[in-house]
Amino acid sequence: MSTTKGLEGVVATTSSVSSIIDDVLTYRGYNIDDLADHASFEEVIYLLWNEKLPTQEELQAFKKDLASVSKVPDAVIEQMKSYPIEKVHPMAALRTAVSNLALFDDEADSHDDEANRRKALKLQAQLPTIVAAFARIRQGKQPVAPKEELSYAANFLYMLNEKEPDETSVKAIDKALVLHADHELNASTFTSRVCVATLSDMYSGVTSAIGALKGPLHGGANERVMAMLNEIGTVDKAEDYIKDALERKVKIMGFGHRVYKNGDPRAKHLKEMSRQMTEITGETNWYEMSVKIDEIVTNEKGLLPNVDFYSASVYHSLGIDHDLFTPIFAVSRVSGWIAHILEQYSNNRLIRPRAEYVGPDKQSWIPIEKRK
Ligand code: ACO
Repeated sequence: MSTTKGLEGVVATTSSVSSIIDDVLTYRGYNIDDLADHASFEEVIYLLWNEKLPTQEELQAFKKDLASVSKVPDAVIEQMKSYPIEKVHPMAALRTAVSNLALFDDEADSHDDEANRRKALKLQAQLPTIVAAFARIRQGKQPVAPKEELSYAANFLYMLNEKEPDETSVKAIDKALVLHADHELNASTFTSRVCVATLSDMYSGVTSAIGALKGPLHGGANERVMAMLNEIGTVDKAEDYIKDALERKVKIMGFGHRVYKNGDPRAKHLKEMSRQMTEITGETNWYEMSVKIDEIVTNEKGLLPNVDFYSASVYHSLGIDHDLFTPIFAVSRVSGWIAHILEQYSNNRLIRPRAEYVGPDKQSWIPIEKRK
């Protein structure tokens, strides 16, 4: 038996959802650069789930369907109020609330294609409602009900702030959602596929994916990037801070990637957004500090920024609480998880690899009274 640590380079399945080939990311064959520049997030969800870009009519109908199921069952919101709010991370709250959604969906365990499509819509539409509701509950405020006439991105900001957002903020969030929507067999997507390959339900698949995304080596990195920027404080302190951290073998959050060795194609879009957004807020120090860190890490270690690095200063510029950065990732990536879950169901086989046993062998039984 041969093993590959972390399954590096192992091709575990075929997929037609997204690809990373020669450092180029595509969703259903469309280059991420084109999608980032031209597509709305709703168009991207449609593309991921239906293998084609929508026509104008299809897009309008899809947006309407999505908005019509964005309200979360009252019982789920009420239970969120009983979480130990002051110590619960929003990713933990999201994981629990999404699992809870299944209890209020009569079709939760159905494997009917139409039922799965309905669950897909509900999950996609309700994740932002949950994230925004939790953010408000912990501020002692009432959750804001979704506004069906708003776009997905605008509605999310509206539910967070109880005020309709400006166009620049909506465009920034929309683009960030497009950039995070899918990414081949990343850890959380693989988790969701392993889960549903047992023929478990879609809610279980998404709940387990949220758990995987939460970790700092995956989606949890974006929040930690902002913590690092805050800790450094000013651009002039960046060099010493990073060099010292690298010397101590501390991982710099937002850098490196298992697959990309010549750079993450999403990072340049977020870098430009960070430049623009910090100019608007007048807090260009976050962008300047990020660029400085980028230069140092690249020079010292040859590591390039990934999707999480510049997204931190973008979300900060939008006034979003730092611990909501990873939940925003989930609000986007649920579109990809669902596309992969549907693909897994359509051509399923249990995912059950092997482990090479390296533990003790041929042990003799020891009665309990003789054990030390
Ligand atoms: N900072 C400093 N050193 C790093 C970093 C980093 N961010 N990333 C990798 N390295 C170093 C490792 O210490 C290791 O060095 P060594 O060979 O001297 O021990 C070498 O580069 C290889 O690193 P691995 O951790 O083995 O690479 P792997 O492919 O397993 O990990 C990962 C990829 C998890 C993304 C890693 O680069 C990392 O931890 N980055 C920081 C966390 C992060 O930004 N995660 C988000 C990834 S993108 C996403 O999931 C959305």
